[in-house]
Amino acid sequence: MKKLLHIIATPRGMDSRTLQISRVFLDAFKQSHSEWVIEELDLTKEQLPSLTMKRVDGKYVLLGGKELYGDLKEAWEEIIAHIERFLSADAYLLSTPMWNFNIPYPLKHYIDIIVQPKYLFRYTDSGVEGLVKDRKMVVITSRGGDYTPESPSRDFDFQEPYLRTIFGFVGLIDIRFIIAQPMDMDVDLQKARIEEAKTKAASVAKEF
Ligand SMILES: Cc1cc2nc3c(=O)[nH]c(=O)nc-3n(C[C@H](O)[C@H](O)[C@H](O)COP(=O)(O)O)c2cc1C
Repeated sequence: MKKLLHIIATPRGMDSRTLQISRVFLDAFKQSHSEWVIEELDLTKEQLPSLTMKRVDGKYVLLGGKELYGDLKEAWEEIIAHIERFLSADAYLLSTPMWNFNIPYPLKHYIDIIVQPKYLFRYTDSGVEGLVKDRKMVVITSRGGDYTPESPSRDFDFQEPYLRTIFGFVGLIDIRFIIAQPMDMDVDLQKARIEEAKTKAASVAKEF
């Protein structure tokens, strides 16, 4: 059985525009991928471990090419559990709105937890090597404003470039974006853009 991990970074549940589109993706995905299981990780409900001094120390031990030992190992148990859960998936669906031109803080927290040397990347003589290989990601996002190339706000989109950079860094280069925008400027436009994004989501899901 293959696994799609659905990572959620909006707290808005049934009111979420992003999740409306993701539900269409998931319905189409289930129809065309009957052998896959779908696991949900709602970061807005998860008690993610905070990056205390001890836990951050562990990162430097790993960066120094050493193994975790003693109480550092213990302090890292929850981090390792999150990394293993992430790596247990064969593909990812990331549902995230734009918050302050970037991603919501629970998703940044999650990224700070899982992007660790030895597990998601390593340094080699020829540079960084991402260890999340042969996997795909779909990012479904909605934004209040409009960040299309024609828009005066286009340069404020730090969300898509950031997600492509951080997940590309760990080896995920096949990332498709489905974007609904603008959501908070005009109700008719909002509805139209959500419908367009749903159509795209259904077609991406079938060939994913
Ligand atoms: C804390 C917060 C920050 C936001 N920041 C931005 C922003 O920087 N740019 C933008 O276009 N929309 C911003 N928005 C609007 C959301 O991106 C937009 O309403 C989106 O559709 C919400 O998605 P959701 O319904 O899935 O939660 C923000 C919303 C919140 C709650």
